[in-house]
Amino acid sequence: MTTEETGPHGAIIADTPDTAAGGEDGVIVELRGAGKSYGNIRALHGVDLKVRPGQVSCVLGDNGAGKSTLIKIISGLHRHTEGDFLVDDTPVRFSTPREALDKGIATVYQDLAVVPLMPVWRNFFLGSEMTKGPWPIRRLDIERMKKTADHELREMGIVLDDLEQPIGTLSGGQRQCVAIARAVYFGARVLILDEPTAALGVKQSGVVLKYVAAARDRGLGVIFITHNPHHAYMVGDHFSVLRLGTMELSAPRDRITLEELTNHMAGGAELAALKHELSQVRGVDTEALPEEGDLTAATTGEGTS
Ligand SMILES: Nc1ncnc2c1ncn2[C@@H]1O[C@H](COP(=O)(O)OP(=O)(O)OP(=O)(O)O)[C@@H](O)[C@H]1O
Ligand SMILES: [Mg+2]
Repeated sequence: MTTEETGPHGAIIADTPDTAAGGEDGVIVELRGAGKSYGNIRALHGVDLKVRPGQVSCVLGDNGAGKSTLIKIISGLHRHTEGDFLVDDTPVRFSTPREALDKGIATVYQDLAVVPLMPVWRNFFLGSEMTKGPWPIRRLDIERMKKTADHELREMGIVLDDLEQPIGTLSGGQRQCVAIARAVYFGARVLILDEPTAALGVKQSGVVLKYVAAARDRGLGVIFITHNPHHAYMVGDHFSVLRLGTMELSAPRDRITLEELTNHMAGGAELAALKHELSQVRGVDTEALPEEGDLTAATTGEGTS
């Protein structure tokens, strides 16, 4: 099913055609006109989103656009205050992240909940340790946990020299990758990644994007939150741009180019106004500022996320 209409800023609002099997129409998670108010602050309003297995849905937006609010609703941290939230075509209202997890919705937060001094394998099983032996002599099944963690990381193509090393000694990118592999192992169907590349350099971002693609290829539906249209476009099947709590663009990959997406993120009109303003200020060479069409070049740097 492909639906299409014009959004508030004349942007494309179109659905991604189905490519994978699942529930009816293949959709695992769906938001219909969903929103959230904190008291009288309306953080999110009228958001539509569909997450399907084997697809990456990117959610972009500037600071304060409502990205975290959106994932808090889906991950069970906050309840929506308007519209509908459905999992497998059934309306849900989670009270805790545990309930979301039970439905297969796993979230990798940016400040990863890891214990830095514990070994990699121990963090892999944190909170869900394998045990052996009957009660009351039940104890941790260390060998099995090490073996399983090693196998699972390799399955995802993540090769670490030593799983005994404290997870705190891994790079930020490697830690994100371990968290992704962990979510896959514990049966996630939907993986939410909150700005996984925001604090990373170019090379490490590339590595994380590779595992985002690996999770997608294993049939997970991925919600990828980012500021960076370049990162989004490398792996995304669908793009939603939030601005001031509303969705100003929603388009499948074949309906939008990287340039258009970048332009939306940078706010082409706002940039033109800024350029005009700066031209009034002495000493600023506005000729050196990018034209609207050059925005790709203007936002390629690492600091954009
Ligand atoms: N607990 C809260 N109470 C009141 N207002 C909130 C709360 N959480 C978020 N907001 C407001 O909701 C709006 C959206 O915030 P949100 O954190 O979802 O944005 P964001 O897109 O994640 O931004 P960033 O890129 O800075 O992380 C902001 O105006 C913010 O101030
Ligand atoms: Mg946020």
